[in-house]
Formats: sequence, C-alpha cells, structure tokens
Amino acid sequence: MRKILLIGIGPGGPDFMTVQAIDALNRAQVLFLPDKGAEKAELREIREQICRRFIAKPDYRSVTIEIPQRAAATHDYRETVDDWHAQIAARYRRVLIDALPDDGCGAFLVWGDPALYDSTLRILDRLRAEGMDVAYEIIPGISAVQVLTARHGIALNRIGESVTITTGRKLAAMGKVTEDLVVMLDGDETFAKIDAADITIYWGAYLGMADEILIAGKLAEVSAEIQRVRREAREAKGWIMDAYLLRRADDGS
Ligand SMILES: C[S@@+](CC[C@H](N)C(=O)[O-])C[C@H]1O[C@@H](n2cnc3c(N)ncnc32)[C@H](O)[C@@H]1O
Repeated sequence: MRKILLIGIGPGGPDFMTVQAIDALNRAQVLFLPDKGAEKAELREIREQICRRFIAKPDYRSVTIEIPQRAAATHDYRETVDDWHAQIAARYRRVLIDALPDDGCGAFLVWGDPALYDSTLRILDRLRAEGMDVAYEIIPGISAVQVLTARHGIALNRIGESVTITTGRKLAAMGKVTEDLVVMLDGDETFAKIDAADITIYWGAYLGMADEILIAGKLAEVSAEIQRVRREAREAKGWIMDAYLLRRADDGS
C-alpha cells in the first residue's frame, strides 16, 4: 500500500516547521509540490526552500503537480468544488501511481495545517473511496490563525467564549457579526461590507513572511485603510493572502 504523509508546513516560511514535520520530510521518498499557477510562484519557492533546508539527502526527489483552476462558482457552490476536486483527484491518482512504487511513501507539503481549509485530505479520501490502495498520516502544522493572533499579541478566544472560523463568502451571507469570527479565504474585502458598529478587527496579510502587514482597530475606523493597504499590496505582489479576527465589543474579558 502506498503511504502519503500530509505535512503541515506552517503559513509563512521554513521557521514554522515543527520537528515532526522535518522528520516526516526525511521519511518520504518523493515530495509532491502542488502548483496553483504563476501568481503563487512565491509560495512554491517557500516549499522548495523548506525541502532544501531540511531534507538531509541532497538528491531528494520532488514532483510538481499542476492544480487546475477552479471554475467560477455557479448556483451550486458545493457542486463547483466537487467537480474541481474530481479533476484534482484524477491528477493525484496519476502522479502517485507514476512516482511511487506500490509500497512507497510520499509526502504533500500542505500550507498551514492540513485540517484547516485544505482539500488534500478530502482528495486522498476520495481516492480511497474510489478503491485506490493508499493510506495517509497527518502531521499538524501551525495555521495562519495562530500566527494572526500571535502577531497581534491577543488570545484567540475570550474567557469562556467561542470563536467561529469561517470564510468571506459565509460572512457576506451573515451580513452582521453576532459572535467572534476568524475570517479566511476572503477575496472580496467582506469586512468592509458588514455592519461595523462595535466591532474590532485584527487583520494580517502575508503572515510570517517578509512582507507581513498588520492592522488592528475599530472596524469603522480602519476598514478603509485596510482596503487601501490590501489593494496596494496585491497590486505590487500580484497576489495576497490575508485573514482577520472580528471581535464584538463587550465586557472586556
Ligand atoms: C486554503 S486556506 C489554507 C489555510 C491553511 N491550511 C492554514 O492552516 O492556515 C488559505 C487561506 O488561509 C489564510 N492564510 C494562509 N496563509 C496565510 C498567511 N501567511 N497570511 C495571511 N493569511 C493566510 C488566508 O485567509 C487564505 O485565504
């Protein structure tokens, strides 16, 4: 049976690698590096830096897997994602069979933590459900959420309170914030379209990287500044990854 290690590499660079992640890198015979296109060349370079820095044998083997673009969402978001996953799964199946012997061990370097808004695990489950003889092991990584709170010097939750992790799309549907939220995958600056009364935002882009940007404050006061900084940064680099925590004003805990 082929074995795949899903290695969480953290959200910014080699310094976020855990000892377990480094050990796992060295157990794999082949490293699979998903490539999402030219705008993410910098992210591919970070993955390659990680391999160069931590893999003990200099002649390690890596295989790039080109990830097809997701079609624009139709009326049915889940169906669009499902079709996209089917295409990726077909590509993974081919690459795993070509690159690994039947009893081989390979690894995917997964951005942040493999359990959080990442489809690699689901795609491997899909291959297993289709009958492919493949097992996996997850090596947890530091997520963008943890770096966001660390950089802002705050706790994720308030005492005894819950925090929901969600997406820009879901926030747009909510319209207003009724609980503390961490928002990821927001390409639409949804923070600027919601009711800002009594909300504090802790925003971060390129967390853990050389170009890291942090802005925090009352949403009504800093929203326009975040939009301006975000657009300038995206224009300058050609891509952006950002996340934020929205916290309702309250009892001060
Ligand atoms: C596909 S999800 C992957 C999340 C990842 N598995 C994790 O644990 O952080 C990508 C989203 O994570 C957030 N993200 C990941 N890395 C980031 C970074 N270095 N700075 C800011 N946000 C980041 C952004 O919201 C981005 O849209």
